Amino acid sequence: MLYSDKVMDHFSNPRNVGEIEDADGVGEIGNAKCGDIMKMYLKIDNNIITDAKFKTFGCGAAVATSSMATELIKGKSIDDALKLTNQAVVEALDGLPAVKIHCSVLAEQAVRSALSDYYTKQGIDPIPIVGEIKEPEE
Ligand code: FES
Repeated sequence: MLYSDKVMDHFSNPRNVGEIEDADGVGEIGNAKCGDIMKMYLKIDNNIITDAKFKTFGCGAAVATSSMATELIKGKSIDDALKLTNQAVVEALDGLPAVKIHCSVLAEQAVRSALSDYYTKQGIDPIPIVGEIKEPEE
């Protein structure tokens, strides 16, 4: 089996799909090579991510990793969300095939992109906090 049960579960039954209309931060990230695009919406209250939703136009692994990423950051502080690495997403899904690791990077960067937008909307320069948002190159 190429994909773990957890990946199949999050692909067939993704959590937190959709948009948040009055989101405090919206991020979008794409991968030029595969053409996949991920959009991430966050609701933030007192530095806590109270809600997270996503829309992913992409492969099954991109859907599964964005679903898992939203689950991992919901209810967490911004600091914790900034520490979310793509490896943590992959581990939470019980692994991904090597050729699909870049899909998890998309999920990690989508979260960071939404947080970056959140700070920008507050009039705070996001770069020192969030860093540059990088499009995965693989
Ligand atoms: Fe592009 Fe998965 S193949 S994100």
